[in-house]
Amino acid sequence: MASSELLQKIRLNGRIPRHVAIIMDGNGRWAKQRNLPRAAGHKRGIVAVRESVEGALDAGIEILTLFAFSTDNWQRPRSEVLALMGLLRLYVSKETQKLREQGCEVHVLGDLDALDASTTKSVEFITTETAGGMHLRLNLMISYCGREEILRACRQMMKRAASGDLLAEEFDEASFEAALFTAGLPDPDLMIRTSGESRLSNFMLWQVAYTELHIASVLWPDFSREDLFRAVLDYQERDRRFGRVTVG
Ligand code: IPE
Ligand code: IPE
Ligand code: MG
Repeated sequence: MASSELLQKIRLNGRIPRHVAIIMDGNGRWAKQRNLPRAAGHKRGIVAVRESVEGALDAGIEILTLFAFSTDNWQRPRSEVLALMGLLRLYVSKETQKLREQGCEVHVLGDLDALDASTTKSVEFITTETAGGMHLRLNLMISYCGREEILRACRQMMKRAASGDLLAEEFDEASFEAALFTAGLPDPDLMIRTSGESRLSNFMLWQVAYTELHIASVLWPDFSREDLFRAVLDYQERDRRFGRVTVG
């Protein structure tokens, strides 16, 4: 089905997911299939990021959260880590202007202290250049993992408690969520993982409590807006019960 037909179906169905998160996986396998170095797969992944941003804009998704680099990915060979950081900087230099014109506000979330100086500069650049974008909030999760995010939030809460600023009774979901990287955002309605793997790999562990999961077999570099639309159509057929009973 063509992209415009899929989009029309999405609009007819209504109930557009407000927040979509994607575990962008399969770059290495994409490159291997072509006898290319892994970095070639990562580079081609930039095209898929553009596809998903434009698809999200077309579909009226408000928040797109992309898992770009996990805390555990620091354990990969140094050459691959350096290539990934270089590609992040390339992404910023190639895409910032367009993202700004399209009204995308970019936030880079994760343990950013681990980044080198020039990558930190790029992150600051894309963040300030796109601030105020009204059409799509794009979260790039870099040096991120869910467990570390939860621990970091707990540490903040403990410090507040130690200073007398927080009572044990005030430690609830709302105060805790305010200490997460995703403070102020609704939980993802839909989480997509590409490359056919059915696991969360430490992504948004707190936030996915009632998120609908969609596993796509396509490898990330081949992910297109049509794949995003198909995931949204799949989501629109789900019966979200949040532990309750559907009436009617
Ligand atoms: C996803 O692709 C990108 C990152 C994790 C940075 P991979 O590099 O994990 O590719 P595969 O899973 O080895 O194919
Ligand atoms: C998850 O993919 C991390 C990102 C997509 C950034 P990985 O490829 O690192 O995860 P595993 O090793 O397959 O669980
Ligand atoms: Mg992988």
